[in-house]
Amino acid sequence: MTEIAVVETVASLRAAVAGWHAAGEKVALVPTMGALHSGHIALVKEGQKHARRTVVSIFVNPTQFAPHEDFKKYPRTFDTDRAMLEEAGTDAIFFPPVEAMYPPGYATRVLLLGPAAAGLEDRFRPTHFEGVATVCCKLFTQSRADYAVFGEKDYQQLKVVTRMADDLDLGIEIVPLATIREADGLAMSSRNRYLSIEERERAPVLHRAMQALATRIRNRDDLFRAVSEAQSEIVSAGFELDYLEARHAESLAPVTSLADGPIRLLLAARLGGTRLIDNIAV
Ligand code: PAF
Repeated sequence: MTEIAVVETVASLRAAVAGWHAAGEKVALVPTMGALHSGHIALVKEGQKHARRTVVSIFVNPTQFAPHEDFKKYPRTFDTDRAMLEEAGTDAIFFPPVEAMYPPGYATRVLLLGPAAAGLEDRFRPTHFEGVATVCCKLFTQSRADYAVFGEKDYQQLKVVTRMADDLDLGIEIVPLATIREADGLAMSSRNRYLSIEERERAPVLHRAMQALATRIRNRDDLFRAVSEAQSEIVSAGFELDYLEARHAESLAPVTSLADGPIRLLLAARLGGTRLIDNIAV
């Protein structure tokens, strides 16, 4: 196993990518905030299907956290992350310090409409996607990668970033990957490590409730009633529900029946101090 390159500056990232491009090799970027799990490694493997070279960025992006959110306590596990990426055969880690991404005087943000204003995550985290899109726009132009791989777990984020890359002609293809789940259905997430043992046992209720709801919708039950009963079931199981909604899978606009489809179910719920999000296709 060769030791993975860790680059901390935009100049050294660009030099590595330019070298690969000069050799006729495509490059896939996997943007992450670290605290890696098997879901991230699946993103790397997907990148390797598209491109000879993969770069994983590890940057806990302060601009996508609201002041009351978990930026400070967000898990930082660089040594374990590096070992996992070495094992996965990643070519380089881009690990910039905050000052490299947001130097003094930094004053630019990406302004988003469309899927970023769908009334889902944005209703509860109003500045979140602006921060995500800004850092992703920077990572895309900094790396000049050919592909960027994003998990469907953050479904609204995937739609926001895909829209932005198209709208701003960023010259990068966004590659989606289906959500990777634990054996009991819980979507893999760096935040799952916040769950207590008891909460971890309860968390798969969310996926089970969404699956049952998807079946009811496919069987042409009344959509409004089916969604509302699934919402009640989740609340009765001890979650605080931010939203559980049926939306058009592409536009994220509200839908009223299967005829408006394809439908995606999206939810966010809090269990103790941990906020979990998930989504599935109907
Ligand atoms: O999904 C994430 O981990 C983050 O939102 C991302 C895409 C790395 C941007 O900071």
